[in-house]
Amino acid sequence: MEITIEKATNPRPKPNASALNFGTVFTDHMFIWDYTIEKGWHNPRIIPYGPLEMDPACIVFHYGQAVFEGMKAYRGPEGEVLLFRPEQNMARLNRSNERLSIPLFDESCALEAIKKLVALDRDWIPSEPGTALYIRPFIIATDNYLGVRPSHTYKFIVILSPVGSYYEEGLNPVSIYVEPDYVRAIRGGTGFAKAAGNYAGSLLAQVNAQAKGYAQVLWLDGIERRYVEEVGTMNVFFNIGGRLITPDLSGSILPGVTRDSILQLLRSWRVPAEERRLRIEEIFQAHDEGKLIEAFGCGTAAVVSPIGKLGYNNRVIEIGGGKAGELTQRLYDTLTGIQTGRLPDPFGWVVKVAVKRLS
Ligand code: COI
Repeated sequence: MEITIEKATNPRPKPNASALNFGTVFTDHMFIWDYTIEKGWHNPRIIPYGPLEMDPACIVFHYGQAVFEGMKAYRGPEGEVLLFRPEQNMARLNRSNERLSIPLFDESCALEAIKKLVALDRDWIPSEPGTALYIRPFIIATDNYLGVRPSHTYKFIVILSPVGSYYEEGLNPVSIYVEPDYVRAIRGGTGFAKAAGNYAGSLLAQVNAQAKGYAQVLWLDGIERRYVEEVGTMNVFFNIGGRLITPDLSGSILPGVTRDSILQLLRSWRVPAEERRLRIEEIFQAHDEGKLIEAFGCGTAAVVSPIGKLGYNNRVIEIGGGKAGELTQRLYDTLTGIQTGRLPDPFGWVVKVAVKRLS
């Protein structure tokens, strides 16, 4: 694929890497790839980061035909640029496309474009512990049309953002409200896809939970409201009596790359790990029996985020005595160690981006 590059003439100021939060600062360049029925995906280009000019009738504004991904680039000990399992994100993006009736793209071409963009903006990759360059590929429907049908034109865009912790709390435990009324997704819906609308539909529950003093919600299944699904925008694990349990991928749950990596790590450590339906009552019962050892959310943005408090049905339970659990911490250290090239990579997860050695 021939990607044209137009370099920015006015580089943007770089943020102070020790004071980074999540998703507020963007780098000098972005990637754009157009789609039309006649030409397919064409005109791949890297151009200076900046606003898009779009017609107000664009389908994406009205019917939310949009999907996205989240990945990270890290700076290794020798200044090398590292991606973590990026082919998984490309494959999932195509699965999201399929669900949203968006034409599929060539995954190796998209990955090549991402590597090129990251290599060009490599000076933006922070190296402080807990920081990374967040990569946000997304695809939007761009027909100017108010009828409801799949668009005939799209843009595949990638932007980059140097980030610190997703939650202000970092690795300190957050409090979570078990959402009794609203649901995130149901089987047959778009829960397994990274569809923009999934996130829009989750906001009201998040805002209500925050008004009650919680950081996020724990989502229950949409049919019986009994089975645990996800926490906020993340997959979730509970350590019950030394067994790590995460909901199985039933169709309404996002198949997280971090979730899958954690399952592989746990199995390699011979820690019993189960993917199965998990009743919310089982968690509270395990707590009452002294068996609820730790709980955490996991995702690309936060890596792992310990759950310290769970509120449900007028009950509030504490988990882990205000600290990240032992396995939570070990998983965080191991994952970030592999991702940043500071620990060996026995699974072959890390992909090096070819750039000149950084000083
Ligand atoms: C993640 O946990 O990586 C997410 O999907 C959060 C993202 C929407 C900011």
